[in-house]
Amino acid sequence: MSQQLIIALSKGRILDETLPLFEKAGIYPLEDVRKSRKLIFDTNIEQVKLIIIRATDVPTYVELGAADIGVAGKDVLMEHDAKGVYEPLDLNIARCRLMTAGMKGQERPQGRIRVATKFVNVAKRYYAEQGVQADIIKLYGGMELAPIMHLADEIVDIVDTGNTLKANGLEAREDIAQISTRLVVSQGAMKMKHQMIQPLIERLAAAVNNN
Ligand code: ADP
Ligand code: PRP
Ligand code: MG
Repeated sequence: MSQQLIIALSKGRILDETLPLFEKAGIYPLEDVRKSRKLIFDTNIEQVKLIIIRATDVPTYVELGAADIGVAGKDVLMEHDAKGVYEPLDLNIARCRLMTAGMKGQERPQGRIRVATKFVNVAKRYYAEQGVQADIIKLYGGMELAPIMHLADEIVDIVDTGNTLKANGLEAREDIAQISTRLVVSQGAMKMKHQMIQPLIERLAAAVNNN
């Protein structure tokens, strides 16, 4: 029996840019993934299956070897801090920045501050490095609302155009990291399925360069 290759893709905004890249690299699902309620899809290559899951679950699948390869934002990878996972390729899509932000014109208060974010681990690390004492409040979305409602003094969130900050009277403060979407591969798969994975990485790299 030939080996299977399981590729975990992040659903949501990354997916629309991921599928054309994989198609250019010679892999495409046999049905329209957006019209289906299925979570696992056959592809044009019999041994290759795509699973389409929440972005934040991709590192878990790859780390534990349930998927061989994953596609996830650097923000998600930084937050998850997956062990035993290679990051061989920057897909150069969904580029954005991870930043701190607060109400426009307001300074960060002295002393202990409250920070709302879904990137709890990244935020803890960042404020500790800056020597700022921060109580982190975990939210799951709409972080920009937190300073308006006096839930938090600052947020840590993704900034792309800056429109969401602006529309809510906030301003970006400090850059934490440049973000883009990465290919990740479990170390086990890299070893055991090298003959399948290495050519795929090369074809994807070529697709990224032509994108
Ligand atoms: P979620 O539902 O977890 O917020 P999204 O589909 O919104 O997932 O985002 C998936 C990934 O896309 C993020 O991990 C990040 O890398 C990137 N991303 C998020 N927001 C933006 C944005 N406004 N512009 C560009 N890339 C973004
Ligand atoms: C993301 C992010 C910001 C916004 C930034 O939110 O969390 O709120 O995009 O983009 P901008 O700078 O171009 O305005 P998203 O739309 O993914 O909503 P979410 O809270 O559901 O993740
Ligand atoms: Mg989002």
